Amino acid sequence: MFVAESDGHVVGELGIEAGYGVAEFGMMVAADCRGRGVGSALLQAAIDWASEHGAHKVALQVWPHNHAAITLYRKFGFEEEGRLRRHYPRRNGELWDALIMGRVL
Ligand SMILES: CC(C)(COP(=O)(O)OP(=O)(O)OC[C@H]1O[C@@H](n2cnc3c(N)ncnc32)[C@H](O)[C@@H]1OP(=O)(O)O)[C@@H](O)C(=O)NCCC(=O)NCCS
Repeated sequence: MFVAESDGHVVGELGIEAGYGVAEFGMMVAADCRGRGVGSALLQAAIDWASEHGAHKVALQVWPHNHAAITLYRKFGFEEEGRLRRHYPRRNGELWDALIMGRVL
């Protein structure tokens, strides 16, 4: 787990787990701290950590409508590798798709 801190407060976090050489992660930045490079710093730290720990790939899942996150991941060299269709049940009864994105290290 990586956290970003500002004035003693956690303003972002990224959890990453390297199972079989593929390091999978999820991340978020506090709404009032976005657009200032916090997500980029967390993501770079995660990629460096994965490389240092022998992972051959970094991967994640993201909602297809999450343009901010998809743009961030593309900027860091991630590519779309697939789409899980009607995969995640939501509280309102809908089933949402998710994109799989990955970057080979
Ligand atoms: C996605 C998220 C982590 C980005 O964090 P951030 O700190 O705002 O990102 P940065 O400031 O480092 O931005 C880096 C790049 O991401 C892209 N980006 C970030 N916010 C964007 C937005 N609102 N629209 C389009 N692109 C965006 C840009 O390419 C940006 O680079 P630029 O500043 O040179 O244009 C943040 O928006 C977030 O926490 N969202 C809610 C939770 C979430 O979606 N988590 C990911 C789940 S898969």
